[in-house]
This record gives sequence, C-alpha cells and structure tokens, in this order.
Amino acid sequence: MPALSGTRNPCFPAILLVIASITSTPLCGQTSKADATRGAAKAKPCAACHGTPEQAPLPGLPSLAGQQAQFLEAQLFFIREGLRPIPQMEGMLKDATDSDLSDIAAYFSKQQPLRLRTKADPELQARGAALAKKRGCGTCHMPDLAGQRQIPRINGQREDYLVATLKAYHDNKRSGSDTSMNEVMYGVSEADMQALAHYLSHQP
Ligand code: HEC
Ligand code: HEC
Repeated sequence: MPALSGTRNPCFPAILLVIASITSTPLCGQTSKADATRGAAKAKPCAACHGTPEQAPLPGLPSLAGQQAQFLEAQLFFIREGLRPIPQMEGMLKDATDSDLSDIAAYFSKQQPLRLRTKADPELQARGAALAKKRGCGTCHMPDLAGQRQIPRINGQREDYLVATLKAYHDNKRSGSDTSMNEVMYGVSEADMQALAHYLSHQP
C-alpha cells in the first residue's frame, strides 16, 4: 500500500516540482488569489462537454462541479502542457495563464457537486463497496470520497468515465502528479473496475 499522500507537500508533487523548476511557475502559490468570478467567464465553453451542477457531462466525461481546486489546477496545467493529452481539448487552454487556470479551478470547486440519478444495482454496489474498503480508496480520497487538495472527488461521477479512467491507470495510460493510482490499480480485474465504478458513481 503506497504511502498516504497527505504526508507529502500537497502543492508540489514530484512532477510539478520538476516542471515548476523549468518554467518557474509556482502554480500552487496562486490558489489564495484565485478569483471564481473571473473563472466563471473563462469557463463558459466548458459546460457544453463537462455539464453543470444540474446536468451530467457528455458520455465518458468527468463532471468538474465541486471538484477539488488543487486537483483541477494540476490537471489543467497537465492538459495545457500536453502532459495529459486530450484531443477534444486540443488548443483550448493554449492562451491560458497560470492565474487563468487557478481562476477556472476556483470557479468549479465552489459549485455544488453533480447528483446523478441513475439506479444502483445492489449486488454490484455491495461488491464495489467491499473492494473500495479492501483497497483503501478512502485513505487518500477521504472516507466520503470527496477528495482533498490534489486528490480528486470521485463520488457521483459518471460510471462510464470512472471505468475508462480506472482502466487507463491500470494500463499505465494515465498517471498524474504521482503514480499512486497506477499502483492502486495494479492487478485489479476489469470486473472489479466495473464494480468500483458502479459503487463510486452511486455515492452521494
Ligand atoms: C469538446 C469537449 C470538451 C470541452 C469543450 C472541454 N473539455 Fe475538458 N475534457 C474533455 C475530455 C474528453 C476530457 C478527458 C476525459 C478522459 O480522461 O477520458 C476532459 C478532461 C478535463 C479535465 C480533467 C478532469 C478529471 O476529473 O480528470 C479537466 C480539469 C477539464 N477537462 C477542464 C476543462 C475546462 C476548464 C474546459 C473549458 C475551458 C474544458 N475542459 C472544456 C472534453 C472537453
Ligand atoms: C495513495 C493514495 C490513493 C489511493 C489509495 C487511491 N487513490 Fe485514487 N487518486 C489518487 C491521486 C493522487 C489521484 C490523482 C492522480 C492524477 O493526477 O491523475 C487519484 C485519482 C483518482 C481518479 C481520477 C478521478 C478523475 O476525476 O479523473 C479515480 C477515479 C480514482 N483515483 C479512484 C480511486 C479508487 C477507486 C481507489 C481505490 C480502489 C483509489 N482511487 C485509491 C490517490 C489515491
């Protein structure tokens, strides 16, 4: 079981440290000055794909509503720098400054999280809950799965997005500021990923 990320400096996961030293962008330091109102204007084009607190995102996409600001900042930085390649968002952040990214992150993090109203399958739900407990998802993502700092909220996301993203970590096609999730997903079967995604997606 990998070390609890809470013990690390949350502002400077290893990769950000490296990048920050190259580009001298102390991304995390900007959080306190982030302005959600400015962020709202910059976030206008995002709802078409990522939805709103009331409306689910397009199939396969994550909701950003109520997501942790530090996690969003880091992902926006990775996306802008091409470290997390997303063809649908190609070029979209190319003119965004670090403070633009902080404003956008502040805007989404202050929204109410989306509440999906899909029906749960009790058997799959129970299996997912047992797996989440066994694999300690709540130690990093918090017991209510709402995340903390650079660790994302994972409750209430679309099930299809969760399945795809767990598989991406499993297949080492996605890694973020560290490799925790690749380690967590090592050896997890596809059936177990389905159960985990079903469980998470139906958590309030
Ligand atoms: C044309 C559709 C589209 C638009 C518009 C769009 N995105 Fe995305 N976004 C995506 C896709 C696709 C993904 C990746 C999903 C995946 O990893 O499979 C993504 C992922 C993200 C993520 C990572 C979230 C997570 O939970 O890992 C963030 C943050 C994000 N987008 C922010 C934005 C912001 C901010 C805007 C507006 C400036 C925006 N997106 C506009 C399609 C879009
Ligand atoms: C050691 C700490 C740790 C543990 C344990 C952990 N996670 Fe994570 N998780 C992270 C971190 C850090 C990220 C952000 C990684 C990144 O930048 O891509 C993350 C990201 C995710 C994401 C991506 C969310 C998004 O919006 O893109 C999902 C889904 C996820 N974790 C599910 C799980 C599940 C399910 C478990 C238990 C089986 C789990 N995690 C256990 C640290 C952890």
